[in-house]
Amino acid sequence: MGRPTKIIPLPAGTSRRGFFKRSGSAAAVLAVAPLAPLTTSAQPVAPFQHGVASGDPLADRVILWTRVSPAAGRGAVTVSYVVATDPGLTQVVQRGVAKTNPGRDFTIKVDPTGLRPGTTYYYRFTVDGQNSPIGRTRTLPAGATPRVRLAVVSCSNHAFGYFNAYRRIAERADLDAVIHLGDYFYEYGTGQYGNLRTPEPAVETVTLSDYRTRHAQYKRDADSQAMLRQHPLIAIWDDHEVTNDSWRDGAQNHQPGTEGDWGTRVNVALQAYYEWMPVRLPDVTKRRENQRAFTFGNLLELVMLEQRLSGRSQQLPATIPTPFGNGFVQTGAFADPARTLLGAPQEAWLANRLRTTGARWKFLGQGVMFAQIKLQAAPLAQGGGVFANSDQWDGYQPARDRVYAMFKGDANNAPVNNCVVLTGDIHSSWAADLTQDPNNPNTATGGYNAMTGEGSRAVEFVGTSVTSPGLADPTGSTAALLRSINPHFKYIQLTQRGYMLMDVTPDKTVGEWWFVDTVDSISNVQTFAAAYEAQNGSNRLTVSAQTTPRPNPPALAP
Ligand SMILES: [Fe+2]
Repeated sequence: MGRPTKIIPLPAGTSRRGFFKRSGSAAAVLAVAPLAPLTTSAQPVAPFQHGVASGDPLADRVILWTRVSPAAGRGAVTVSYVVATDPGLTQVVQRGVAKTNPGRDFTIKVDPTGLRPGTTYYYRFTVDGQNSPIGRTRTLPAGATPRVRLAVVSCSNHAFGYFNAYRRIAERADLDAVIHLGDYFYEYGTGQYGNLRTPEPAVETVTLSDYRTRHAQYKRDADSQAMLRQHPLIAIWDDHEVTNDSWRDGAQNHQPGTEGDWGTRVNVALQAYYEWMPVRLPDVTKRRENQRAFTFGNLLELVMLEQRLSGRSQQLPATIPTPFGNGFVQTGAFADPARTLLGAPQEAWLANRLRTTGARWKFLGQGVMFAQIKLQAAPLAQGGGVFANSDQWDGYQPARDRVYAMFKGDANNAPVNNCVVLTGDIHSSWAADLTQDPNNPNTATGGYNAMTGEGSRAVEFVGTSVTSPGLADPTGSTAALLRSINPHFKYIQLTQRGYMLMDVTPDKTVGEWWFVDTVDSISNVQTFAAAYEAQNGSNRLTVSAQTTPRPNPPALAP
């Protein structure tokens, strides 16, 4: 997300640069010596040093991924793979071979079909007689589905520290999948945004070689390998997978004069993305349009939205001074209905998915905050107040109203209940009732009752970052101030790193926030922080309790 901007007065000695507009060279971090390289030229290259991964599970198939590191000068390489129902790989259900070559950076992606729904599988690749680590994955359930458990992550910046959150997720054996909501990697060069670990290459990623090298570094991370080896990934990109504050025709962190044509940069970034991520390419002729849907039986429909490259209109500047920094109001260009985050085709696709799914719960996995963050409160009848961040849905109010229209229904379409928005991007933790007029207490005129939640049409769970910096708020005073202006938020925590856990049953969806104690070093400490739930049919949040793990989960991969 966006440019560094001061929003709220800071306690002495802290920095909020890049928080609401998260990016740039923000918070101070510890400097340490770079890690030693994994191999030297005198050693043979391990063939599977980037681990294994799986992703985009469906009821009958799942993508299996790896990358081979062949001897220098080698051309095409043939890799075999095996899929089994046991961690010892004795109950084999599929075998196959796949070819790779320098044209796809020696990455391998296979998509075996004919698998059984709701089933855990184990898999392994082999090349030149050498085996990869054993991976574990799971297909989506079909039919009557009593429960789904998902981990949700975003904003995993290698330069800002260690992926302890990934390791904690790897240890959870009872998950159906891991959802990554974007900023899987960051494009910056050495010292530009985090300096706890040194990026490869040292420069900002611009060329195909740059993007491949950065992806390779992230895939060599041990905690990342642990998570991707144990669970299928369902990922969308946000902006940093290409560059900061991207939109359809450009980005804040793209300078055509020195970095070349925008379309070329997007093409090479997405080429590397599809090579290195266990993501199914929906249409080879439309690589920017990677919105996808995942059906967990009759319980959950998960739609993953593309909000940067296929349709998004350019961000508008915030120019109105407030005591907290510059904001903006919903007038002028901000009120232009032609502006869009999703683009018209994806809006129509989303409406169709929401209206036609037979699943009880509808999750919208997406990048930027859907709920309003206001710096000055006012009901819509008095202009709606002053908003903080024009890169998120607040900057695209008419487009957001079109999504509300899907929730609310109309003469031709029934209301869509049980919608749950999942969000990353903002490096902090929030729970929100979704209502169009949160500062209007009169529900008879479309307002919202903060005590009862009446007037809420859906709910939002915003997960904090894996490593990217949040905001120093040691006493919680900033969170309290934001809640006083924005009564639709039930929970705001601005300082911690970690992940979310979603527990979905027919009666309710519970979202839990789990925090790690540090990202400055490898640590196994995590803390349950809070839980909120939406009950079936309520479309609003209430305080919940920590859920219990599933009994007898399938064994983790050895
Ligand atoms: Fe981020």
